Amino acid sequence: MLLTLPEILTQGEVREARALLASAPWTDGRDSAGPQARTVKNNEQLPHDCEAATRIRALVLAGLDRNAIFFSAALPKKVFTPRINRYRGDANFYGAHIDNAIRVVAGSGQRVRTDVSCTVFLSDPDEYDGGELTVSDTYGEQRVKLPAGHAVLYPGTSLHQVTPVTRGERLACFFWIESMVRSDEQRRLLHDLDMNLLSLRQRHGETDETTALTGTYHNLLRMWALT
Ligand code: NI
Repeated sequence: MLLTLPEILTQGEVREARALLASAPWTDGRDSAGPQARTVKNNEQLPHDCEAATRIRALVLAGLDRNAIFFSAALPKKVFTPRINRYRGDANFYGAHIDNAIRVVAGSGQRVRTDVSCTVFLSDPDEYDGGELTVSDTYGEQRVKLPAGHAVLYPGTSLHQVTPVTRGERLACFFWIESMVRSDEQRRLLHDLDMNLLSLRQRHGETDETTALTGTYHNLLRMWALT
């Protein structure tokens, strides 16, 4: 399931992030890539512990926290420390790869299985050419380029790439989620059920059927979730 989440960050938060990024200490993005990804990766990233990364991470995590759709779609168990990257100039693309299945959180040593990938765009589409996130799955190839502050969720199992940025710069925050429900197919069923229940309730109020189907949702979640 590939899903767009509008306005994870407010426009004010995007401005704050952008001001911090203007003077941030960028480093070679290959430092955090596995052996295969390293051969196709050419971008820049921020160190985990710099001021800009720390503040933007807090903004993004707070934005996710207030977003009910994110929770419904990802059913998060653990969120890997969000990172910030930049594509421009000679460091302007990330070729086709599948992300490492397991990430280790710096400092704590905690392992996170990368069930769901998330990118929060920090540049607007008219600020750069190229730089599309291209995700291949069973439905074919999807190209994603969203307004600043918006996010996309896609399965960690997907082959994906960021196409070369040929003008301007593309700034983004990216991270992975270990979900309580490991299977993308099961997460999608739960999310569909949840969203349709929400709209049924808005249209008709609470009925015997919405009460029963809410029970079905929770019973499926109970059957599939690992907490
Ligand atoms: Ni990736």
